[in-house]
Amino acid sequence: MAELQTIRFRLNGRPVELAVQPYETLVEALRRGFQMYSVRESCGQGLCGCCTVNVDGRAVSGCLYLAVLVDGCDVQTVEGLGTLNQLSPVQEAFVECEGFQCGFCTPGMIMMATQLLQENPDPTDEEIKHYMSGNLCRCAAYPEIIAAVHRAAEKLRAQTAAGNTPATAIMAQR
Ligand code: FES
Ligand code: FES
Repeated sequence: MAELQTIRFRLNGRPVELAVQPYETLVEALRRGFQMYSVRESCGQGLCGCCTVNVDGRAVSGCLYLAVLVDGCDVQTVEGLGTLNQLSPVQEAFVECEGFQCGFCTPGMIMMATQLLQENPDPTDEEIKHYMSGNLCRCAAYPEIIAAVHRAAEKLRAQTAAGNTPATAIMAQR
């Protein structure tokens, strides 16, 4: 068995550490070490987006990303966007627009939609489809997902108009 390596990083704003195998993926490490069960593996090949996690501000496929690579990084999962009692605007919009059926793809969709809206606060349908083309929904809830992204964009624009920065608007307002 290969030698364990201890990695230290920030997970949803909290400093953490974990001993990982050099071949362990970020999905495996987040689920094993921190019970981050929103991070899900489906295809395991970088094709479906279920495992989308944000590392240092960029969405990555956690099924292909080795855990050792997040040493010293900021990692965010959907658990870090809001809480059960206080959802983030994107999470709220997915609930309001019923942007899911079984929910398996939903954390990845929300992470990707969150990144999209940070880059483009008012995307068109085509821009949403293009940006989120790596996130597959086996229930084909695509019309509701697109509606949810538009609803989230409205919420975020309202928050920034009220004086929040884009970076704070995207998080749950605590
Ligand atoms: S499980 Fe990672 S992209 Fe499908
Ligand atoms: S809601 Fe079932 S896979 Fe998307």
